[in-house]
Amino acid sequence: MTYKEIEHIPKMKNSLNALSPYIGKMRPELASYLINHYSQNEGYIYDPFAGSGTILVEGWRQGHDVIGNDLNYYAYILTLGKTHPYPNKESAINALDSYRNRVEKKVIQYNIEYIPEWIRVFFDSQTLKEICCWVNYLKRNKEWFLLSCLMGILHHQRPGFLSYPSSHGAPYLRTSKYPREDFPEMYQYRNVYEKLYSKITRAYKDMPTFDFEKKRIITNKNTGNLTLKNIHASTIITSPPYMKSLTYARDNRLRLWFLGLDDWRNLDKTISPTQMNFYEMMQKSIYRWSNSQVAGDKCVIVIGDIQSTYNGEKVSMGNALIDLAVDKYNFIEAFSDPIPESRKVVKGNTKINKESILVLERK
Ligand SMILES: C[S@@+](CC[C@H](N)C(=O)[O-])C[C@H]1O[C@@H](n2cnc3c(N)ncnc32)[C@H](O)[C@@H]1O
Repeated sequence: MTYKEIEHIPKMKNSLNALSPYIGKMRPELASYLINHYSQNEGYIYDPFAGSGTILVEGWRQGHDVIGNDLNYYAYILTLGKTHPYPNKESAINALDSYRNRVEKKVIQYNIEYIPEWIRVFFDSQTLKEICCWVNYLKRNKEWFLLSCLMGILHHQRPGFLSYPSSHGAPYLRTSKYPREDFPEMYQYRNVYEKLYSKITRAYKDMPTFDFEKKRIITNKNTGNLTLKNIHASTIITSPPYMKSLTYARDNRLRLWFLGLDDWRNLDKTISPTQMNFYEMMQKSIYRWSNSQVAGDKCVIVIGDIQSTYNGEKVSMGNALIDLAVDKYNFIEAFSDPIPESRKVVKGNTKINKESILVLERK
C-alpha cells in the first residue's frame, strides 16, 4: 500500500465530521480507508485516543460496533454526541424546542458575575447568559448531540457563531482585525436558540444513514489504565497524541470551561505528554489493548512521524512503537502519508512532515 492510494480517495460527504473543530483530527477519508482494509465482520472497532471520534463515526457508518475513549472531556462529549445523533432533523429540533421555555425562564435570573474575565471578553453578556443556561440544561439532560452542536458554534468570526470575532480552533479574539467601531454587527447579541437551530439544520444536511442498533460505547479515561471488560476489539485503529506539538486542552480551553473543566493546564500534562511519558503510556496501553484482541487481529497506529529519543537512541517514533509492541504484536507493514503545509495545524512546523501508518498484528 502507498500513500498515493490514500491521496486519491474521493472526499466523503458527512456533515457530522464538521460538527465541531478538533486539532489533530484525522482525515475522514483516511479513517474510511483503514476501516475498509483492516476491519473484520466480528467484534468492535476500538479507538483508545478517539479525539473528535472520526474513526468511530466512520466505523459506525460502515456498519460496525464501535468503542472509543479519550481523556479530554471535550473530545469525550463530542465523540458521544457524534455517535449518538438524533435519527433525523425533526427529532433533534423537537428536543431543542422542549428545553426552550425552561432555558428562557432561567436566563432572566442568571447571574454571570462568577464568570472569569477571560471568558467574558469573548461574548456579549446576554449571549453569555443564554449559553450558560443552555449548557446547563443540555448537560443535565445528557443531550450530548445538542451539546456538541453548541460547542461547534461557540466561537468564530462568522455570523452563525456566538462569540465576538475570534478564531474557530484555539480561542483568540480578532478584535484588532475587526475593531468594534468598524464592525459593530460582530459585537451584537446572538440568540442562542436561533443559532443552534441553524447549526442543527446544517448538521443534517449531509448526514449518512446509520444503523442505530449498532453498539457505540464511549469512555473518558486514561487509556494507559483502561481495561476493556468482555469486549473483543477485533480492530484497533487509533492516532495517539502528537506529544508536545499539539496541546489538546489548551486549544479547547474555552469549550472545556463551559463543559465544567477550568484546569486545562493540568489536563494537558497528561494528554499532551512529554516524550518520556508518551512512551511509558504507550507501553501500558499496548499491553492492555493486547488483552482485548486475539491472534490475527489488527492494531493500526497513525502517528505524526518525528525523530525521538527512545532507549537513549535517536529513532523515528514509528520504529520505537514497533519495538514497544514486540512482545504482543508482529509488525506487518508501514506506509506514510505526507502532511502538506495546507493541512498542518501548526503552520511552518518542520518537525512533523508526514504521518506514518503502522499495521501490527496480534501474535
Ligand atoms: C491525535 S488526537 C486523536 C484525533 C482523532 N483521531 C480525531 O480524528 O479527532 C489524540 C487524542 O489522544 C487523547 N489522549 C492523549 N493522551 C491520552 C490518554 N493518556 N488517555 C486517553 N486519551 C488521551 C487526546 O486528548 C487527543 O484527543
